[in-house]
Amino acid sequence: MERDIERVFLSEQRIRERIGQAAAILDEKFAGGNPLAVGVLKGSVMFLCDLVRAMKTPVQIEFITVSSYGERAQSSGVPKIVSDLSASVAGRDVLLVEDIVDSGCTLKFLKEYFSGRGARSFTSVTLLNKPARRQVGIEADYSCFEAEDEFLVGYGLDYAQRYRNLPYIGVLNREVYER
Ligand code: IMP
Ligand code: MG
Repeated sequence: MERDIERVFLSEQRIRERIGQAAAILDEKFAGGNPLAVGVLKGSVMFLCDLVRAMKTPVQIEFITVSSYGERAQSSGVPKIVSDLSASVAGRDVLLVEDIVDSGCTLKFLKEYFSGRGARSFTSVTLLNKPARRQVGIEADYSCFEAEDEFLVGYGLDYAQRYRNLPYIGVLNREVYER
């Protein structure tokens, strides 16, 4: 695994520190509330686990699987729900937890999806943001780190389902996806 990593982008410690700050901001925003944290599988799973454990606000946890990728480094741009939530979002304050906002297609799609299902409010938090890659005009409400147009793996992020269990976030060698 490590051989395919060009360099470390975010160490475990930097990730942990930044998540602590994000959790404090979200605690303030949701003070007295009981948001429904929705993790977008599979990429956001590590982030969601660490984020909610750093928060003091009581949250419920749900997951949704949205696919638009296949085994390529480029999005097809058309998100599809592969597996849905097991609880209703009607009347809930939804906290969507994403790994990366890249083209923005997934975030836009999910925001509309939850609004259409009667969520009371919608807040999005993303671990990573790649503004240079945006195709639709949308931003996460909270973004932990800005990234360049490089393919990142680790801490939940994959390339072709690999590298998710690296504890840090690294830049994937171009050779891996260009060969
Ligand atoms: P978007 O719909 O183009 O914004 O893409 C969002 C999804 O693409 C993210 O939730 C990731 O799963 C995936 N993605 C985008 N960039 C990367 C990357 O650098 N590494 C791994 N997955 C990525
Ligand atoms: Mg994702």
